[in-house]
Amino acid sequence: MHDSDSINNRSGNRPFAEVVAARLSRRGFVAGGLAAAAFAFVDGGAVGARGRSPAGVLGRRLAKQSAPAPSGSALVGFTSVPLQDGPTPTIAPEYEMSVILPWLEKLDGSGESFDRDGLTAEQQEQSIGIGHDGMWYFGDETSGVLCLNHEFGSNAHVLGVEEPESLEQVRISQAAHGITVVAIERGPNGWRVVDSPLNRRIHPGTAATIGGPLAGSELVETPAGNPPVGTLNNCAFGVTPWGTYLTCEENFHGYFGASGDWTPTPEQERYGFSEEGFGYGWHLFDERFDLSNADHTNEENRLGWVVEIDPNDPEAPPVKRTALGRCKHECAAVVVGADGRVVAYTGDDERFEYIFKFVSRDEMEAMQAEDVSPLDEGTLYVARFDDDGTGEWLELSPGNPALESWSLEEILVNSRGAADEVGATPMDRPEWITIGQGERVFCTLTNNSDRGEDDNPGADAANPVAPNPDGHIISWVDSDGHTGTTFEWDFFAISAFVVDDGGQMFGSPDGLWADPDGRVFVQTDGSQPGDNNDQMLVADAATGEFKRLFTGVPGCEVTGIAVTPSRTTMFANIQHPGDGDPALTNFPEDFSGADGPVPRDATVVITRSDGGVVGS
Ligand code: FEO
Ligand code: CA
Ligand code: CA
Repeated sequence: MHDSDSINNRSGNRPFAEVVAARLSRRGFVAGGLAAAAFAFVDGGAVGARGRSPAGVLGRRLAKQSAPAPSGSALVGFTSVPLQDGPTPTIAPEYEMSVILPWLEKLDGSGESFDRDGLTAEQQEQSIGIGHDGMWYFGDETSGVLCLNHEFGSNAHVLGVEEPESLEQVRISQAAHGITVVAIERGPNGWRVVDSPLNRRIHPGTAATIGGPLAGSELVETPAGNPPVGTLNNCAFGVTPWGTYLTCEENFHGYFGASGDWTPTPEQERYGFSEEGFGYGWHLFDERFDLSNADHTNEENRLGWVVEIDPNDPEAPPVKRTALGRCKHECAAVVVGADGRVVAYTGDDERFEYIFKFVSRDEMEAMQAEDVSPLDEGTLYVARFDDDGTGEWLELSPGNPALESWSLEEILVNSRGAADEVGATPMDRPEWITIGQGERVFCTLTNNSDRGEDDNPGADAANPVAPNPDGHIISWVDSDGHTGTTFEWDFFAISAFVVDDGGQMFGSPDGLWADPDGRVFVQTDGSQPGDNNDQMLVADAATGEFKRLFTGVPGCEVTGIAVTPSRTTMFANIQHPGDGDPALTNFPEDFSGADGPVPRDATVVITRSDGGVVGS
């Protein structure tokens, strides 16, 4: 998702950038790619030419303290491709790619697509949505089910108009959001959609269930008495150990607006609700999204959750797992801890917001034997990063003295406010989280150009990320095999310092996935060096060496990673190609210019020509 301009955290908690500065000033060395990058930086790479003096000072200091990492890692053996700004994607020469699942492809396996011109809501509900984002593949090497998030699509892209003019247009926009569950198989001509009873669309109008501590709570009931429905702005994902899919509701606030008099509550302000929202105009025709309609008070409390979907049961409704808290959830990275309990990490993607962790009440199998979802009962925590490289998970429960006046339901509905109270660390837009070798957790902090600007929280001149237009990637290892309340943290990469012969390699890291071999895949969403296209890179987790595997098209974001079990086939997404403008790209059609077809979000299938593991 594109940068949101809003800053809603005025808690005054100590900004992460200050902690970064303090931490770096104490370090005698840095490891791997950060060191190599800093060295290259001082050697006159393009980063230096960009002339950010705080980064320059830090780069020179690190260079004196560091040696470059070895190059030519066997783990990441492909030939890195240059940045590019052309209208079609590129991939490393050892690789091949093809495109599947474009927006509006029918789910009946015919391979046909509906036209945007004359599109109906019913057609959109029977076809692939737009805004392809997080996803996961449940299957073998030749057939399976893909769960694919559809984060967002602008009215201009979906409808061809800036504002909806009817309820039908709102319904089209809504049906373009949500999730596609689709059976796919690999045939002689590549991967394709299979007509299957499992195929379904889940969108803002689909019946949903509230699970966990908010089930039955008046905080999620409306005066209108309408049952909970829908999920939207489905960003990144998670997979449970029991084989279900988690989809995460991120910028849910942007779909609400006010058609009449409305004064935001403190909680609505904390989550950034406004009269116009993101300009979708749904509230003008669908009263559910009208903040000034008293019949629908609390409707917004039904959104902002991690939602579980069973890919193999088309009758099962999506379930909101409210124990994981309510925020602008980017993702949910799930792992079974050393003691058998289920742990879920999730980031709240906005400037100066937080990283959360949920730990189940009991061992996964014990809870399942009770017929209780391990995601429905447990403890929610929020991260505080300390100067000395350690950190603490702060409990978000009425048992925490800082929250003794809060009920658990209030804490979970207003997790941001609760996190403010306990002194969590405001971060530079937490995006994806992934778990690599050695129980090491990685999190992309995509950017924060407001860090240190105006009266926003800031850092001193020595801080490499204040302001932080390019972002960084942090990592940590929790105590007690993921379930402990303390951790040790470090950087994996600071984007401005990761360079190759072409200069700075990337900015705005977002999508992130660690494979079991020690590779870290990084996808970008935002301005790239030289105004080039967004991209996907692969890094060696041990050395920090990065190579560029894939570049997207103008105006797009590269996001979403899924693999077959052997990891010889990878799926990745091109989101909002050309921002919907055919003058920039006609992807996935060959580029013919502004008179060509409207670009369509789609999934790219990536394989090595020699059949090897993707990333090698
Ligand atoms: Fe949906 Fe923060 O990206
Ligand atoms: Ca992003
Ligand atoms: Ca994202």
